[in-house]
Amino acid sequence: MIKILFVCLGNICRSPMAQGIMESKIHKKGLGGKVLTDSAGTANYHVDEAPDPRTLTALRRNGIELVHKGQQFKEAHLQEFDYVLAMDRNNLEDIQKKVGKSSKVFLMRDFDSVEMGADVPDPYYGGVDGFEKIYTILERSIEHFMQEKIVDASSR
Ligand code: 4NP
Repeated sequence: MIKILFVCLGNICRSPMAQGIMESKIHKKGLGGKVLTDSAGTANYHVDEAPDPRTLTALRRNGIELVHKGQQFKEAHLQEFDYVLAMDRNNLEDIQKKVGKSSKVFLMRDFDSVEMGADVPDPYYGGVDGFEKIYTILERSIEHFMQEKIVDASSR
């Protein structure tokens, strides 16, 4: 089993959207039972809350239903997961403050084919269009991540 954890600040916008997209791809690629994904936030503001309604709307528009409850990133996640994908540099720094540097931790857009290494912008204080924009970024980055790290490894 390969386990991937997406991490943002609040765990209600970017990282649950990434989780929903990844779950959909796992299903479509027939990787159920081989690959597992979850998400967490570096902050504790939204622990036990459902994802932001704008996140769920953007996912639904693409045929994806997500069930998730907010949780805070903790040190034990690093042992449990094979990959920890941070949405932006602040998230990456906060993860490193908690667990030190680790070869399991990457920026999400290290795997993007457009603006590689950029931050996934925080859409929380903006409009609905920001959620559509990050959907596109996340879908593209996750597809590349899976091709590079998951698809071959999961058949070994
Ligand atoms: P996320 O967005 O990190 O993508 O889930 C945010 C959600 C909540 C807050 C900030 C960003 N907040 O300040 O409550």
